[in-house]
This record gives sequence, structure tokens and C-alpha cells, in this order.
Amino acid sequence: MSEVSMETIVNLCKARGFVYPGSEIYGGLANSWDYGPLGVELKNNIKQEWWKFFVQQRLDMVGLDAALIMNPKVWEASGHLETFTDPLVECKECHERYRADQIDLSAACQKCGRKETFTEPASFNLMLKTWLGPKEDATATVYFRPETAQAIFVDFLQVLQTSRKRVPFGIAQIGKAFRNEITPGNFIFRTREFEQMEIEYFIRPDEWQKHFESWLENLKAWIRHCGIDESRVHDLEVPVEELAHYSKRTVDIEFDFPFGRKELYGLAYRTDFDLSNHAKFSGENMTYTDPVSGERFVPHVIEPSLGVDRTFLAMLVSAYTEEEAPTSAEGETEKRVVLRLPKQFAPIKIAILPLSKKDELSLVAKPLAEQLAKNWRVDYDETQSIGKRYRRQDEIGTPYCVTVDFDSLEDKAVTVRDRDTMKQERVAVADLEKYFNEKFNN
Ligand code: GAP
Repeated sequence: MSEVSMETIVNLCKARGFVYPGSEIYGGLANSWDYGPLGVELKNNIKQEWWKFFVQQRLDMVGLDAALIMNPKVWEASGHLETFTDPLVECKECHERYRADQIDLSAACQKCGRKETFTEPASFNLMLKTWLGPKEDATATVYFRPETAQAIFVDFLQVLQTSRKRVPFGIAQIGKAFRNEITPGNFIFRTREFEQMEIEYFIRPDEWQKHFESWLENLKAWIRHCGIDESRVHDLEVPVEELAHYSKRTVDIEFDFPFGRKELYGLAYRTDFDLSNHAKFSGENMTYTDPVSGERFVPHVIEPSLGVDRTFLAMLVSAYTEEEAPTSAEGETEKRVVLRLPKQFAPIKIAILPLSKKDELSLVAKPLAEQLAKNWRVDYDETQSIGKRYRRQDEIGTPYCVTVDFDSLEDKAVTVRDRDTMKQERVAVADLEKYFNEKFNN
């Protein structure tokens, strides 16, 4: 296991344009982060690959993209208004706030160092409130969704009717969720605004164990697909007394982050809790009728819930490597940082590097970059020495660098360098598209 520190990851993210502190020119905003040019590419690739893996390639899945702000009755029915809380304590001396379940209440306050100064734990609701329309009163109060899941339950009947799916089937959604976390932190690990990729998989009640095990396997397969270091991944059977209000069984998939072992994903058996409550609160009948047997039941649900931002962080921690790379035939070496991201996730797929800024080279390299950019995300870089440019691309995980040199003008070929092996091969310009199609599709 590489012992990459959070400081290294955060610095790399800022220096190379993966993630910046949000609103930085105004001094930032407590733990908000912006994804820069490379970050947005990696994040989009995570979401696209997830959609391909769990929706497009499965005939039992459909998608949804629902409104982020929903009728407040949704949160009454789901139990979030009443029970989506964390225990809050405050230091009576310095007024620092903590989650009571995350600190030792008999220890000193981490900020002011005083002992025995904590208030009694109080329930703090994590939902972010706002209001709709010009009147700021209780009747206009709405909430930013704390999970993407609820819209899937609320739209269940419409999706069922329009998609003509039969149980078992699943509905997937990717989108932002908001929680007024008491103690956000650890970079993008816990923030108040984040993104989820969730599936509600509707099943017959008596088959929940079988589907639960199968989704646990699916999540492991996804983790492998992302190149997340499996030796850092662990299952935690959540004890009954700690289960969320809707869950009969939850397995947290944890990851050894540099700051400790923490939840990466969750897999929950939500029973018929949500559909039955929405039926009760809305008056709609959420019963499913099996078209073959005629059997009627409220479907139960297995829910794999994944955070985009935590996937992003676990992938960076897993992909980051430092190694000694040869710089000369005499055996001299220098430190090389390589982000060994799986190719399909890499923010930049191909870097086009003309050996010099001379016009005759850019006349070949530019059109080549434009041609390849039709299929892959391409970077064009003609500054600094070729060695430095290779290192820069290694550090951001670019699988292939294409060097256009003066021989290219004669032999109509370029040098392709592989990120992982550093091996170089000469490829005819006319064959490049076919070459990369093979590289990226295998
Ligand atoms: N619908 C179920 C649900 O929301 P959860 O365990 O509260 O379950 C699911 O959240 C996933 O969302 C987590 O495993 C994590 O990946 C991500 N997540 C939750 N809270 C987060 C936060 N404050 N910041 C970043 N990601 C978060």
C-alpha cells in the first residue's frame, strides 16, 4: 500500500487543476471545493462509466434526473424531517461545535483545551432549508434534497408505467445532494454539497437476501473497474442499533483513506419503508401487480448508494505512485510521479507534444490534435523540454503522449509513449486513430 499523504493529494489537485478551494478570492467558504479543468473531466468520466456499468449495460435498469427541490411532504413521508439528525454538542467556553458521536465527551475541547465544557447532545437536522417564491415564511419552506433516492420512490409509479419494466428492476440517478454537516472536512470526503450515484432496485420481499449479496458483488466489480486499491477496501456490517431509520440491513464499504478507514459506499436493504410511507402520505397506491402471476405486493428495495466525490478521492489515493525512473543510459534516475488511473477514467487521454515550437512541426501536430480530439480528450503542449512535458502528463495520468518530431515531416509517423511502461513506439500518422481505438477499447 502506498503511503500517500492527504497533503500530497491536495497539493497535486490544486497545482494541476483537479480541485481548488471554493470562493478562494473571498477567503473561501468552509469546506467548499471547485473541480477545475482536470477535475471536471475525471468526475464526468466517473459518472459516465458508472452509468455505462450500472444502467446502459443492464436490461433491468432505467435512469432518472429529477428536480433537486421537492415538495416538503416528501421529507415528512421519508422520515428525514424527523430523524435525519446528528447529535450536536457545543463547547460552552469557545462555542466550537462537534458531532457528539465523533469525539470523546470526557476529553478537552480540541479548540480551546478546556475540559467538561460540552453541552448535552441535541438533535441537529442536517437538511438545508430555503424558501420558494418571494415570501420568506413557513409555508414557502423547502429543502435541498439530502439524498437523490427519494425522487426515485416518488416517481416510482410513473417510471413503472412508462418503462414497462417488471420487478426485479432498478432506477438510477446521479445528482447533487446537500447536508448541513456539523463537521465537514478531510478535503472532498465530507462536504455540505456533494454528488451521489444511487440505485433503488425493486424486488420481491422474499428475495432480498439474494439481491443484497448480488449487489455487494456488483459494487466490488465497480471498485475494481475504477482501479480502487482493493487491499484498502473493507466491508462493515452496520450494527442494528446504528442502522438508518429506513434500513433493515446495511453494509458500509469502507476505504483506508490517508486520514483513516471511512465509509466509501453504502448498501442498504430499505424494505418497503419508502414506497409504503409515500403511499400513506400521498394517498397513491404503490402496489405492484405481477403481469404473469397477478400477485400484488409493495416492492422491497436494495439500495447501492455511492458518492462521486469519495470515488474521486479513493481513485486518486489508489492511482498515485512515486517511482525512480531512468533519465540516462548510464543509469541515472529521477523521481517520477505517475497517476495510474484506468485509461477510460483519465482526464486527458492523449497529449500531443511537438518537439519544438517551430511552425513546420505545429503544422503537422495541430491538425493531428484536432483530428484525435473528435474521439478523445486531447491536450496540446509545446512548452518546456520534452522530458518535463512527459513528467507533467504522467502526474495527471495521461495514458499516451504523442511526439511530433522533425523525422515526422519525412516519414509521416510519430512517437507514442506509454505512461505506465514508458515504452515508445513509432506509429504512422495514418494509423493513429485505429491504434488508439484498439488501445482504449481493450
Ligand atoms: N440514500 C442513502 C444515503 O444517502 P448515505 O450513507 O447517507 O446513504 C451515501 O450516503 C453515500 O453518499 C456515502 O457512502 C458517501 O459516498 C456519500 N456521502 C454521504 N454524505 C456525504 C458528504 N457529506 N460528503 C461527501 N459524500 C457524502
